[in-house]
Amino acid sequence: MSPTFRSDAYIDGKWRAGAKRFEVFNPATQAVIAEVPDLGAAETEEAIAAAHRAFPGWAAKAAKERAQIMRAWFDLMMADIDRLARLISLEGGKPLAEAKGEAAYGASFMEWYGEEAKRAYGRVIPTTTPTRRYVTIKQPIGVCAAVTPWNFPMAMITRKAAPALAAGCTIVLKPPHQTPLTALALAELGEKAGLPAGVFNVVTTANASAVGKIMCESNLVRHFSFTGSTEVGKKLGAACVGSTVKKVALELGGNAPLIVFADADLDLAVKGAILSKFRNAGQTCVCANRILVEDAIYNAFSMKLADAVPKLKVGPGIEDGVEIGPLIDQKAIEKVERMVAEALASGATALTGGKKHPAGAQFYTPTVLTNVTRDMRVNTEEIFGPVAPLIRFKTEDEAVSIANDTPFGLASYFFTKDVHRAWRVAERIESGMVSINDGIFSNEVIPFGGWKESGLGREGGVEGLDEYLESKFVNFGGFA
Ligand code: SIN
Repeated sequence: MSPTFRSDAYIDGKWRAGAKRFEVFNPATQAVIAEVPDLGAAETEEAIAAAHRAFPGWAAKAAKERAQIMRAWFDLMMADIDRLARLISLEGGKPLAEAKGEAAYGASFMEWYGEEAKRAYGRVIPTTTPTRRYVTIKQPIGVCAAVTPWNFPMAMITRKAAPALAAGCTIVLKPPHQTPLTALALAELGEKAGLPAGVFNVVTTANASAVGKIMCESNLVRHFSFTGSTEVGKKLGAACVGSTVKKVALELGGNAPLIVFADADLDLAVKGAILSKFRNAGQTCVCANRILVEDAIYNAFSMKLADAVPKLKVGPGIEDGVEIGPLIDQKAIEKVERMVAEALASGATALTGGKKHPAGAQFYTPTVLTNVTRDMRVNTEEIFGPVAPLIRFKTEDEAVSIANDTPFGLASYFFTKDVHRAWRVAERIESGMVSINDGIFSNEVIPFGGWKESGLGREGGVEGLDEYLESKFVNFGGFA
């Protein structure tokens, strides 16, 4: 049964139908699920103005009061988790079990940041002269705008909105055109939880650049947060700083290496590689993009992985037991097909997969490629599909060099039983997040974010709250 959902935008505490609408598709079948408002620059400005009006009242509430509303929102999300998971799966294609995991992950930011807001402490700084006293205080940055991706229709919203709201900011959100329904379900629950009008606004659109331009250039918006491609992130970041010097947070592309050293527990490494590589059919920014395997165990590891991967059940995410859903759209399928074809033509071998899957037009068979070399695009570019390229290395230095040979630095993974190597490699790897002997790590308490061209700023944990707070230094002078 299809889950119920709202399909109008949400601005200033009101549901807005809009004059034009665009279609939302189920990526498993390409069937139209809904039509939602195709809003533009004027409605974005209205939403920003509403957030600006709501800001003083929301910021003035005690952190505890904001936390109570956020707690109620969290409780409503958890009580509605089955519907939210079905919605995530329906519009995003994610297998139901994974979608349920995302809904809980998404809700956890509301709970955690509501609690954390009570601890947004400033500092007392020891004075440099008897005539003065120094303190710093933390204050909400103001109206925030956020542009979120389709691969986590819920969690990437709450990972931005929860710390912003907890800090006392108000927010205007543009969800992706592929998955706006989950964002609207979130607004519906926020309204029920008691969010005042204008505090959380959702502008749906099929014209991302018109809405993004207003968000970046508006002088009422003081913080802009984007999760998506590095190419788009660079342009948006430049527009934000170049126009109004607003604070920017960017969660961009990755090219995560997963290194398997010869001293690793091979079964654990295979399990970790599958978890990391095939999560959301390979469509997360932290999915292991390429798997580097030490020469001595290359064949053993490849065989074990190639044995396990075909057992992953492929199909529409909404069906029971499915582990690999469809890719988000036709462009995504074509990109994966092209990258695999190029690798095969350049000497790689498909141990399993290597082609589309009969489940439907947007399904790709989980694939393991061996004999992959450093120059192939499956090593140098983010695949965003269920394809595991295996690259051979001989020494620790070589592994680290291949791992770091990329402009990206979001996540990395490695498997070893040697504690000294674990420290050494963790320190040498150039990425914002390193996971040792574990293929998955995301949760609300950790600082999620990248080095190099993978982004700016951190989401999650105490660092995530700081993004939405300005630090103000105050000097008390005139002491006799
Ligand atoms: C992402 O793909 O950007 C988010 C992944 C996560 O939160 O684990």
